[in-house]
Amino acid sequence: MRLVKLLANLGYGSRKEMQQAIRNGWATDKDGNTLKADSKTPHEDILFDDEPIDPAQGVVILMNKPLGYTCSIKDHGRLVYDLLPDRYRLRKPVLSTIGRLDKETSGALLFTDDGTFLHRVISPKSNVPKVYEVTLDRPLKGDEAALFASGEMMLESEVKPLKPAELEVLEETHARLTLHEGRYHQVRRMFAATGNHVTDLSRSRIGALGVAGLEEGGWKILTENDKALIFS
Ligand code: URA
Repeated sequence: MRLVKLLANLGYGSRKEMQQAIRNGWATDKDGNTLKADSKTPHEDILFDDEPIDPAQGVVILMNKPLGYTCSIKDHGRLVYDLLPDRYRLRKPVLSTIGRLDKETSGALLFTDDGTFLHRVISPKSNVPKVYEVTLDRPLKGDEAALFASGEMMLESEVKPLKPAELEVLEETHARLTLHEGRYHQVRRMFAATGNHVTDLSRSRIGALGVAGLEEGGWKILTENDKALIFS
């Protein structure tokens, strides 16, 4: 791909702006040689404004989403995209979230511009478990784990029962819930159906990939090893 198009697709600016920037010598290789618009320099060797350029298409990002941020590219209030460099919102193909977390849910959130990867993560065939840490405003009664594991639990206004989910009770009002699907507000609705109320919700893992070590609002580009953890 021509350098102008590559940089524009990565969101550094319009094609016109990138043409001008290249002419002005902003794109170099790692030895400091100025690159031309038709340069065939390998992606990993290209610098823009003295910084390595962002990864090519096929990127997967893990964010530790803070509370109060909405999983949307365009909405009112704070958006998860505000936590990434501005140009990530302009990438082509678009960088979308893999599933969503509610505004008032924190924790592991994936982004990608790779449609095949996205479908692999959300496909029922992959059966990727998602682990949630839940705080409740009332003590657990003791029968929730059996109900959630039954494969027969129905949520209001739905026609298909929930897949079996595993509940680990940690304390009277704390539990860890593992889901194998992702329905709208699923965790909150499951506990609401038992007469309880979720006061704090955080997703700690997607597959075996966790957010430990990532500060709130922090994010990282996943390596092939990190990606494999999702399916392990
Ligand atoms: N279940 C919920 O209720 N909310 C989330 O954000 C994710 C799962």
